[in-house]
Amino acid sequence: MRHLMSPLDFTTEELDRLFDMANEIERNPGKYAHACDGKILATCFYEPSTRTRLSFESAMIRLGGKVIGFADAASSSATKGESVSDTIRIVSCYADICAMRHPKEGAPMVAAGKSGIPVINAGDGGHHHPTQTLTDLLTIRSLKGRLGGFTIGLCGDLKFGRTVHSLINALVRYENIRFIFISPEELRVPDYVTEMLKEKDIPYNEVIRLENVMPELDLLYMTRVQKERFFNEEDYIRLKDFYILNADRMSLAKEDMLVLHPLPRVNEISVEVDDDPRAVYFRQAQYGVYVRMALILTLLEIQVP
Ligand code: CP
Repeated sequence: MRHLMSPLDFTTEELDRLFDMANEIERNPGKYAHACDGKILATCFYEPSTRTRLSFESAMIRLGGKVIGFADAASSSATKGESVSDTIRIVSCYADICAMRHPKEGAPMVAAGKSGIPVINAGDGGHHHPTQTLTDLLTIRSLKGRLGGFTIGLCGDLKFGRTVHSLINALVRYENIRFIFISPEELRVPDYVTEMLKEKDIPYNEVIRLENVMPELDLLYMTRVQKERFFNEEDYIRLKDFYILNADRMSLAKEDMLVLHPLPRVNEISVEVDDDPRAVYFRQAQYGVYVRMALILTLLEIQVP
C-alpha cells in the first residue's frame, strides 16, 4: 500500500505517468466516469480548505466514487481528545482512501503509519502540500510543455508557505532551474532550503523588490502572507500588502511568463491581472481536479483500459 506524504514520494518517471494520465482524463473524462464505482474517499480536514477538499471530493465523484468526511476538527472527535492514529484506524473501516489536512507538521505521516488505507497528505502545517505541488507541476507542464529550463520567481511568504517548500523540493529534480526568491527579510525562505540548493549547486537569488526581477522570469509563483501561522497580529498587518501584482508590474514581464498562485489570494494579485492571458491561477485550480483524479486511481491501483 502506498501513501503520498511528499512530492518526492514519486520518481520523476512516475510523475510523468501521473501527469500523462491527468491530461488524458482532461481530454476524455467519460472514460473515467465509473473507474471508482463502489469506492469511498474520506476527507479528514482539521484545518480550513476550499480548493483541496472540494477538488478531492469533485475528483472522487467524477470517478464514480463517493465521499465521506469532516471539514473542521471541531465537528470531529478530535475535540474529545481522539488521536489521529485512532481516527485513521476508524476511517480505514469506512473508506478506501483518505485525504488528510492537519495544522501539525507530520500528522498525516503518523496517520499513515497506522492506516489500513492509502493516506494523502493534503497539507500539514507549514511543512508540505504535495497535491498542490502536483497541481503546480501539471499546470506548468501542460501550459509550457516541459518541466525544466526555467527561471522561476517565488514571491511573498516564503517562510511559512508550505506550497513553496514543496514546489522547490519537486523542481530541483529537473534540469536548468534557477530560483529567484522575492520576499521581505522577515519572510525569507528557510535556511534549510537555501542550504539544500547550495549542496545541489542550483542557482538562486534572494531579492526584496519584485519589479527588479520581473523581466527575467519565465514563471512567477505568487503566495499570500500566511496569517494563520503568525504569532503576532501587528507583524501580519505590516507585511500582508508588501507585494501587490498589478497591471503596471505585469507590463515589465515577458510575453509568455505565467503567473501561478495556489490560492486563496488576499490582496497580492490585483483583480485587474485576472484578464491577462498570462494569469493562469484559475486554470491551475482546474488542473488540481485532474491530477487528484489521477492520484486516486494510482494509489488505489485502478487501471482504466
Ligand atoms: N491551495 C490550497 O491549498 O487552497 P485551500 O487552502 O483552499 O485548500
